[in-house]
Amino acid sequence: MAAEKQVTTTGILGWIDERFPLTSSYKAHLSEYYAPKNFNFWYFFGSLALLVLVIQIVTGIFLTMHYKPDANLNLAGVPVAFASVEYIMRDVPGGWIIRYMHSTGASSFFIVVYLHMFRGLLYGSYRKPRELIWIFGTLIFLALMAEAFMGYLLPWGQMSYWGAQVIVNLFSAIPVIGPDLSLLIRGDYVISDATLNRFFSFHVIAVPLVLLGLVVAHIIALHEVGSNNPDGIEIKKNKDPATGLPLDGIPFHPYYSVKDMVGVGVFLFVFCAILFFAPEGGGYFIEANNFFPADPMVTPPHIAPVWYFTPFYSILRAVTYPLFGLDAKFWGVVAMGAAVVIIAFLPWLDKSPAKSIRYRGPIYKIWLAVFVVSFIILGYLGVLPPTPGRTLVSQICALLYFGFFLLMPWYSKVDKCKPVPERVTG
Ligand code: HEM
Repeated sequence: MAAEKQVTTTGILGWIDERFPLTSSYKAHLSEYYAPKNFNFWYFFGSLALLVLVIQIVTGIFLTMHYKPDANLNLAGVPVAFASVEYIMRDVPGGWIIRYMHSTGASSFFIVVYLHMFRGLLYGSYRKPRELIWIFGTLIFLALMAEAFMGYLLPWGQMSYWGAQVIVNLFSAIPVIGPDLSLLIRGDYVISDATLNRFFSFHVIAVPLVLLGLVVAHIIALHEVGSNNPDGIEIKKNKDPATGLPLDGIPFHPYYSVKDMVGVGVFLFVFCAILFFAPEGGGYFIEANNFFPADPMVTPPHIAPVWYFTPFYSILRAVTYPLFGLDAKFWGVVAMGAAVVIIAFLPWLDKSPAKSIRYRGPIYKIWLAVFVVSFIILGYLGVLPPTPGRTLVSQICALLYFGFFLLMPWYSKVDKCKPVPERVTG
């Protein structure tokens, strides 16, 4: 028989605690979860990612009440899906703000997640014992890309249509299964009503479920091993012998719950500024062409994905040579996929004795800077139409992107690190 539970609470709480681990979970994950005392600016982005996730789910629920995934033309000759978004913007009370919160939320999600991932690179947060947190993170990133890609088709504008056309066609470059695979994704020989319906179903339920599950796993893994910090020191190694608590740790609640509120306040301020004054994000958050209904007969002169995909899109376009009898498009797809998947291998590529950039040598610092600059240049070039000069630059940047990862086992070992202190310095 299972041992009797030790419940110290009384009243309604005691009644619940005898049946459900409410107080013990609150203690384990909040009031008695000891986090390093030296979290800085970079540690805001995990909780902000959670906030954006909630914003996306709540606004998404309300959008779904009025949106119609239907590519057929209405009596005015406009696709029903496109018209339903216009209806949300013009006639549904508060519809415009819900829609703009959702579209701005998508770009904010990527800004926040990119900064969150960059923090991992700064402080070696992917290193042992946090490999699984990182792997769940990479899977979250993949799911987020799928979610954003399918969501972008739903307004059924010109960019939705032609962007999906370009990306789904890429799958047909895979040998043997490619053509059937892209047919399966589309549900038709062209992007059509069938595609819109399946993307809708994936966007509103399938991928969000996966995303939520992964985020829960991400945080369970984090709370199992504890947070890293800007010094890259394990606070669990220095415990108070009397209490058994980490000497450099403070309870998450109230210290970081309150600190995170500051991040939330600043974030919401910027978020609202975009929402009210520049909801299209200068044409980067919602592209100008997407204010025109999808027209299969008119190809826009320049098709580019939304900004958060463009670094990877540039890597795809950077591959211009066929190899082993397979065309350049196939190798482009491989390079683009590899650019995401390689992130998951970081814990095993990094051989440095120090985790945090504070104690690493100059070679890692230079490589990290080169990596960030290449990523930004790739992102910028991905928005522009290709020219021979731009393709050359994107080829160089793509090599530097992969160089950061593939040369890491070597340069992280030979780099001259500073001694890592025993205790957190602040
Ligand atoms: C929906 C997206 C995500 C959410 C909601 C999320 C949430 C969180 C939260 C709440 C934390 C703890 C607070 C913090 O350390 O900032 C955290 C930590 C962490 N996350 Fe994420 N995350 C997401 C995506 C990612 C991605 C894409 C990666 C990397 C590929 C990643 C890697 C990490 C790592 C390594 C930590 C531990 C950091 C440390 O202790 O220094 N996360 N995440």
